[in-house]
Amino acid sequence: MKGLILSGGKGTRLYPITYTKAKQLVPVANKPVLFRVIEAIHEAGIDDIGIVVGDTANEIKEAVGTGRRWGIKISYIHQEQPLGLAHAVKVSQEYLGDDKFVMFLGDNVIEGGISQLIRQFEGSEYNCQIVLTPVDNPSSYGVAEIDPDARRIIRLVEKPRDPPSNLAVVGIYMFDQHVWEAVHTITPSWRGELEITDAIQYLVDKGYNVHPYVHRGWWIDTGEPGEMLEANDLVLDELEPRIEGYVDRDSQVNGKVTIEKGAEIINSRIRGPAIIGEDSRIVNAY
Ligand code: G1P
Repeated sequence: MKGLILSGGKGTRLYPITYTKAKQLVPVANKPVLFRVIEAIHEAGIDDIGIVVGDTANEIKEAVGTGRRWGIKISYIHQEQPLGLAHAVKVSQEYLGDDKFVMFLGDNVIEGGISQLIRQFEGSEYNCQIVLTPVDNPSSYGVAEIDPDARRIIRLVEKPRDPPSNLAVVGIYMFDQHVWEAVHTITPSWRGELEITDAIQYLVDKGYNVHPYVHRGWWIDTGEPGEMLEANDLVLDELEPRIEGYVDRDSQVNGKVTIEKGAEIINSRIRGPAIIGEDSRIVNAY
């Protein structure tokens, strides 16, 4: 299987932070969201990953490089214009070939990683697997209507005003080669984009096996500042506390705190969840 990460977009909803930084490079618990996505895919046993890049291509390439640091191969695919998620898949056809793949939106963070999801898809007859999760504000996402025993998708709608359920489509999708038929057949939506929800709806309508996986942990699409803060809180809480730096006798560390190597805490109090980055100095602080 291959991995495909979408890392284009301008991140306008995160201005002003994204005036000077690609949104996928904004750190969550001291690590760019995009690195977390790469690591989640790698952890699931995939070591061939394509990253779809747009306006911020140079910055992304500089930060991520060849993938050597993770021991994997990273290829870059240029999407000249942000014409939709299904369009990003379309421009990646040459890279993906007929392999099965997982597409992961470069600004999504999910509890517990994706290893189990990948294993389930690889060993199945599914042509596509999507991840759904209950949310309070379904109108902000793609939404799925599924049959009562949660086995079959009836329909998918993108950001509906009147949502048919509270099940949002998480930005992690698995496909086999039948996706090509879908992305070559669908036409742009009212907002001028080739929507991934339309491509999946096409597969459902043609009778392909599209499996809805309902995720019960947390999931964050870090598109907005509040969500970025929430993602930090949740990821920090997931980290195993460890103290590799120096904490002097006048300091106190409470709760889930990670202090990376070379960091120094002098006459200060750190209240978790928190992470203190490598070689930082915290002096006379709370
Ligand atoms: C995209 C998809 C949407 C999905 C969401 C998940 O929306 O179009 O179906 O629920 O990602 O993050 P966007 O965040 O691009 O508006």
